[in-house]
Amino acid sequence: MKTLVFNGSPKRDKSDTMHITRAFLAGMADAAPQDVHIIHVIDKHIEYCDGCFECMRNGGCCHHRDDMRAILDQILASDILLFSYPLYAYGMPAPLKALLDRTLPLGSMAMQQVGDRYEHIAQASYDHLRYVMICGCGFPNSKQNFEPAVAQFKLSFPSNHTIVTVPESPMFNAPEAAVVTKPRLELIRKAGQEYISNGTIAKDLMTAITSPMIPEDEYARIVNASV
Ligand SMILES: Cc1cc2nc3c(=O)[nH]c(=O)nc-3n(C[C@H](O)[C@H](O)[C@H](O)COP(=O)(O)O)c2cc1C
Repeated sequence: MKTLVFNGSPKRDKSDTMHITRAFLAGMADAAPQDVHIIHVIDKHIEYCDGCFECMRNGGCCHHRDDMRAILDQILASDILLFSYPLYAYGMPAPLKALLDRTLPLGSMAMQQVGDRYEHIAQASYDHLRYVMICGCGFPNSKQNFEPAVAQFKLSFPSNHTIVTVPESPMFNAPEAAVVTKPRLELIRKAGQEYISNGTIAKDLMTAITSPMIPEDEYARIVNASV
């Protein structure tokens, strides 16, 4: 199984969210051997899409000469795309959004109705792809926080998606919080294992991994005491 990880955190390996992602990947590897390639998106040269739509009419070629060409090839050669990113302003960090915009060449200008919405007809075949979103955030609350990012991911990848959101994620980089982060990372590892073994994560396990690690007010008190 080839998994391409887009690490959208500008903190690269020091990312809070990557603690979650590494545990999930370890669980995937527990279930079956994995071929994982991690891209730190911040290190890539990715120009902004300038909206010319040329790529959607000409077989998928963008006029920008940057790292996105190789990334599109890597996408098509993968089985799983794992988007690992911190919640920024209720969405994904700008470098990762630039990458998502530049996947436009995979679609054509032609559109079709699918259920109650329209989507572009693909120029390349990517039905085989599965999509995982792993998103950490700084506030203790999941509600009134992750919804825009989750909605964007579901609309961008309507089929074969799995979404893991974990609040209070700066705690993953705090050694003094190990008493709560270690058991959480073990559950996340179990989720990675289930994802590969069953293609999905059991509802109870998903609820356990996406809930706050400590009560919201206690988390806020600890954060406020350190500022
Ligand atoms: C520009 C910016 C915007 C942020 N926006 C949000 C937000 O909308 N909601 C939230 O809960 N945390 C927000 N955060 C906090 C980060 O999501 C949090 O610090 C996260 O743990 C960082 O993860 P990382 O280490 O993987 O980059 C924001 C942080 C930054 C720097």
